[in-house]
Amino acid sequence: MKDRYGREVKSIRVSVTERCNLKCFYCHREGEWHEHVNEMKPEEIERILRIARRLGIRKVKFTGGEPLVRGDIVDIVSRASAIMDKDVSLTTNGTLLKKYARELKDAGLMRVNISLDTLREEKYLRITGLPLLKNVIDGIYEAVELFNPVKLNFVLMKGLNDDEVEDLIRFSSDTGTVLQIIELEAPVEREKDDFFRKYHLNPKFIEEHLEQVAERVVYNELHHRKRFVFDFSGKKAEVEIVRPMHNSEFCMNCTRIRLTSDGKLKPCLLRDDNLVELLSPMRNGANDEELLELFKRAIMLREPYWKPENLK
Ligand code: 5AD
Repeated sequence: MKDRYGREVKSIRVSVTERCNLKCFYCHREGEWHEHVNEMKPEEIERILRIARRLGIRKVKFTGGEPLVRGDIVDIVSRASAIMDKDVSLTTNGTLLKKYARELKDAGLMRVNISLDTLREEKYLRITGLPLLKNVIDGIYEAVELFNPVKLNFVLMKGLNDDEVEDLIRFSSDTGTVLQIIELEAPVEREKDDFFRKYHLNPKFIEEHLEQVAERVVYNELHHRKRFVFDFSGKKAEVEIVRPMHNSEFCMNCTRIRLTSDGKLKPCLLRDDNLVELLSPMRNGANDEELLELFKRAIMLREPYWKPENLK
């Protein structure tokens, strides 16, 4: 199904919990806006995914919070993989991944993204509040045995980890993962915050550098993103740059809708003023046709956050 801007909605990103075992200071906690924790049950997630499937959505990504803090995540993935035939993936902080990777694979998980903002223990502690870098690294090694691709999410932060880009490229080429260098994101009203002003750094300079040194630039159809492939100390390295801020192209290529852990459809990551309740009508006895209408309403509320005419 297409939205008012002609964008086909192809994937759904489901937050399964707001809980997380880390406390990253920059996290945009998809869904932090909701007071009470009212997590969807596996069968409720399954029902919502079946409805999404009727609208042509064939890909799901699970996120959080940290999805692996949910004891029933394997059950959730297994239900999802019976419905979403094109992609079932998960974004995790990796701290619990070693333990769950095999089971998730058997449940039908196809890919993982693992957050990794630093390779230094003391900095990891500063960013996340917990000394768990070793667990993440173990999780990455386990994941590359089972999934392909494994992507590392690296959120670039000025003065904090911008000196580690090369190390991360080396690490990802050593482990056979794809490095995603992600621009620090915030809604317009938070751009004035100290946090954003202090740490935001546009990764364009890295992109320009990689354009120079890349052997090949592969266009990733899925995300409308360039992937830079090059030789790094005799090994293949693959890097993607994600630049969402003030980027109308990023929004025009957005084909995903989000679902908060308490069952609200969220048309845009950076907005919380146009959510559509799905779980409460469901619990109050709404039938599938009614839920389908709510889904369509949420899709029709989708609009690009960064519009060409709003950008200088
Ligand atoms: N800007 C950019 N990326 C962020 N993430 C969390 N908060 C932000 C932010 N403010 C990333 C995490 C994780 C993914 C789910 O989102 O690094 O990999």
